[in-house]
Amino acid sequence: MKHLLHTALFYFFVLQSANSQQLKSPNGKFIMEFTLQKDGTPSYSLNYKNKTVIKPSKLGLELKDDKKSLLNDFTVIDTKTTTFDETWKPVWGEVESIRNQYNELAVTLNQKGTDRQIIIRFRLFNDGLGFRYEFPAQKNLVYFVIKEERTQFVMTGDHTAFWIPGDYDTQEYDYTTSKLSEIRGLSEKAKTDNLSQTFFSPTGVQTSLMLKTADGLYINLHEAALINYSCMHLNLDDKNMIFESWLTPDEKGDKGYIQAPSHSPWRTVIVSDDAREILASKMTLNLNDPCKIEDTSWIKPIKYVGVWWEMISGKSTWSYTDEFPSVQLGVTDFSKAKPNSTHGANNANVKKYIDFAAANGFGGVLVEGWNEGWEDWFGHYKDYVFDFVTPYPDFDVKGLHEYAKSKGVKMIMHHETSGSVRNYERHMDKAYQFMKDNGYDAVKSGYVGSIIANGNNHYNQFMINHYQYAIEKAAEYKIMVNAHEAVRPTGICRTYPNLIGNEAARGTEYQAFGGSKPNHVTLLPFTRLIGGPMDYTPGIFEMDLSKFSPNNKSRVNSTIANQLALYVTLYSPLQMAADFPEHYNKFPDAFQFIKDVAVDWSESNYLEAEPGQYVTVARKAKGNNNWFIGNVNGYEPRTSNINFAFLEKGKKYTATIYADGKDANYKTNPQAYTVRKIQVTNTSKLSQLSAAGGGYAISVIENKK
Ligand code: NOJ
Ligand code: CA
Repeated sequence: MKHLLHTALFYFFVLQSANSQQLKSPNGKFIMEFTLQKDGTPSYSLNYKNKTVIKPSKLGLELKDDKKSLLNDFTVIDTKTTTFDETWKPVWGEVESIRNQYNELAVTLNQKGTDRQIIIRFRLFNDGLGFRYEFPAQKNLVYFVIKEERTQFVMTGDHTAFWIPGDYDTQEYDYTTSKLSEIRGLSEKAKTDNLSQTFFSPTGVQTSLMLKTADGLYINLHEAALINYSCMHLNLDDKNMIFESWLTPDEKGDKGYIQAPSHSPWRTVIVSDDAREILASKMTLNLNDPCKIEDTSWIKPIKYVGVWWEMISGKSTWSYTDEFPSVQLGVTDFSKAKPNSTHGANNANVKKYIDFAAANGFGGVLVEGWNEGWEDWFGHYKDYVFDFVTPYPDFDVKGLHEYAKSKGVKMIMHHETSGSVRNYERHMDKAYQFMKDNGYDAVKSGYVGSIIANGNNHYNQFMINHYQYAIEKAAEYKIMVNAHEAVRPTGICRTYPNLIGNEAARGTEYQAFGGSKPNHVTLLPFTRLIGGPMDYTPGIFEMDLSKFSPNNKSRVNSTIANQLALYVTLYSPLQMAADFPEHYNKFPDAFQFIKDVAVDWSESNYLEAEPGQYVTVARKAKGNNNWFIGNVNGYEPRTSNINFAFLEKGKKYTATIYADGKDANYKTNPQAYTVRKIQVTNTSKLSQLSAAGGGYAISVIENKK
């Protein structure tokens, strides 16, 4: 009770009774109400500007094989309120400094009959709500198994949702835009093929989930700080419009192994009536712990090129030879094998990319297919696929490292695990040491196919712990990680900024596997990127793949100007220029933007945004006065009206505008673009047309006196 009195001291906490408490956000726009229902079930609701966002929603966890779940029969034994306000500087990011300001309510509950305690901690920010379950150390609740987390998000209506199907193994889907009530009917269509996929419900969806209400509220549901817990999906009760948490199980159906003291990740609800504020929210990062790496001087944002799109598009191969129907590492002798003529990671080709990187100011060169095993890398229950240290005969690790070094370029390592995490963990120390010995300080890892050991999914607790282990172990070696097919990020890059990239969504590779929807890139910032940066691998200039890979009939659904804009609209400290040097050499004036664009920012201003339709953002490069603007556009041609008021007063700049050409269109005329220069100041305005599936990119460089 002492704490209840204490709370009354803060004007922003409106004390009602122990069983019902309100918490206000620092700006007063949000009110969260915690209520203990009559049967002792905890619940919460959320209001924004006097509108209900989340109706009273139950909280709790169902336990396995336990006499009683953590669902009801609770009494409130303590409440504690605090306020917090700090500003911190990320190692890299969209902005130079981040304000972390919230009011907090921690409710301690005791369960009648079991005498077990949990704490539900709520943090109310100016842009939304985070809350989590905490399991303090106690004698009646030590080890337990979660059967299901029963966190509800009760919607106020049949909102529009931008969703991908719930899946325990992959997020590599196009987004579907529909009413909540339509999800069930559309779910089959939304399930496109993937090498590893496990659906669980026709109304299951993944987070980060973007929603829009009929009266113009934007709501984003996700989680923050997913550590030692399984990844949360949402399942919709579409009669009552209630989302409920649905954790990823292991083989036995168990959804979490907990040892107190411990806590769940944060469940997050970001809300605004202005879509741009959803994109600008830093709540997910703020709910993660501060950086745990002491010396971060080795963590550096970077632009890179690579031997990659060649294989993805089918022009060349990861494999070195066509002779072996199967490979056993250490037994299969590659030294005598006849090389095929398609192996991409050969010395001469890699040197070509190193030369290109050096000539155009790229810091890194990624090479995939450099190591033995690719002849036979997925499709079987194969544990020992790669050892991550044995190169093919035509890839000279030391020689290429020396060559790259002499040109001021870093090689980027590739570790495809093909889902065999047991094998990766076995080799990890050696693999990371091998990188250090050969001058690599960043690795792209990958988890294609079903997870080995069997019974695990990409997103269950065991795998979450694996991804985290790989990040922390890499930090010991001063290695930056860009993990593909791993779980979607939840802001962990604040704590471990060596996690410089993740895929965990449908990236550019799908433009070579049949294509992605032209408005996909207007949705990624509202969904996947809420948790952290994406290695989307933009920069494709040749949209007709059959021109160089005759059997590939896929087309890239985008324009050249749209591809340029992605370097600004899809924030990442790691940006690839994914196309071939020869394609860039064909369009040098467009390529100039990729050469110029920054990868680390001191300011970001979201100028225009509507999920599925358009995103326009202006970012200021860290360390100088240059700005870069990107706009990506959905299905309909659209004119943007840009106000340059964000520029510094009194300064003059040259803006180079890379725009869709007349009649440009993602399908029929993707390569039509124009480049023009204008002078701008902070009073300038610009109207700029974007084609269907198009966009524009603008560099705004301060004039030298
Ligand atoms: C899937 C990744 O997303 C892709 O970038 C990579 O090339 C392949 N796996 C092979 O590792
Ligand atoms: Ca992938």
